[in-house]
Parts: sequence; structure tokens; C-alpha cells
Amino acid sequence: METPRIIILVGLMGSGKSAVARRLASDGIALLDTDRIVERSAGRTVREIFAEEGEEGFRVREEASLAECLSTLERAVVAAAGGVVTRPTNREALNRARASGVAWVVWLRTDPAELAQRVSRGGHRPLLDEDPGGTLERLAAERGPHYAAVSDVVVDTTGRSLDEVTTVVLGEYSQRFGRWEHNG
Ligand code: S3P
Repeated sequence: METPRIIILVGLMGSGKSAVARRLASDGIALLDTDRIVERSAGRTVREIFAEEGEEGFRVREEASLAECLSTLERAVVAAAGGVVTRPTNREALNRARASGVAWVVWLRTDPAELAQRVSRGGHRPLLDEDPGGTLERLAAERGPHYAAVSDVVVDTTGRSLDEVTTVVLGEYSQRFGRWEHNG
């Protein structure tokens, strides 16, 4: 089997995608974050885009951002924002990248009650402005099957530290393909 050169982290808001991605990236491994790419290309924050273009406008931009990440020719770690799986085109793109052996997708799954404790108010998550706990419960139910459908492995982050989660992700990778740091 081909050794994937892109690790993609998916999961709900607060599951640790960006933090784990930062740990997996290094000098020769690019760090890509769909939210940051959207913000850079729009010249506005995620919150501003939601306010001015609505969620749908944001999702259009997010789709382009994911496509940009998947077309990278470098070794990379991608933190894919929580909502990327809501669009069928994005799920298909992720599954094509997996099928071609380019990408390996990890679902960071977390108990929604713990997510509600972890996420801070404000910032880039306008969907959590009202009733974050209830919203995360609902999103977990709605999106769970989508995360499952695009991922190669599930890593439960509930009750685990960032170090522990990173170690598990790297362990799952190395069991299949050899050491992430040395591949490529
Ligand atoms: C969203 C997740 C956020 C951000 C936006 C919408 C979602 O990114 O894209 O607030 O729909 O789950 P993170 O998953 O990085 O927090």
C-alpha cells in the first residue's frame, strides 16, 4: 500500500484538530488549516463571513479551501474544520484522496459534553453562540455518520491530553505505514 503523505484530522469543534495538527507538522511537513485558508483568501474572519454571507457563503469558501489542501503536492497535515463533512462534494473529495493513497484521515471523536467544556465562547465558532452544549449534541448525532464515512481510523480523545492523543495518532499511523516523521 502507498504511504499517505497527508494526514487529515476531522471531528467536531473542540476535538483538538488544530492542536494535534500542530504537533504532527514540522520543518518538512506543512501545516494546513481550512479555516485559516478561508480567512486568508477572504481577508475576513470566519465570524465575519458567517455574519455577512451566512453559513452557506462560508461553506462555499470552505469547499474551495479543502480542495486547495487536497491538491497540495507537499507532505502535510490538514486540520479540516468541523463542518467540512456536511457537503457531499467534500466527503467525495476526502474519499478520493484516501482511495488514491495520498491521504490518511483520522476522526478525533469526543464526547459532546466534554467538547462543551473545552470550547470557549466567541472566536471563530458562531454556531456555538447559543446553547453550545445542545448544539454540540445535535451536531455529534448529525455528523457522526459523515465523519465515520470519510475516516480511516477513529481516535477517542475524551479524557485524553493533547500528548496522549498525538501519541495514539502517530501510533496508528506507524502501525500501518512506518514512522510519520521519517516517511516521504
Ligand atoms: C464549524 C467549525 C469551525 C468553523 C466554523 C464552523 C462547524 O472550525 O469552521 O465555526 O460547522 O463545525 P473548527 O472545527 O476548527 O472549530
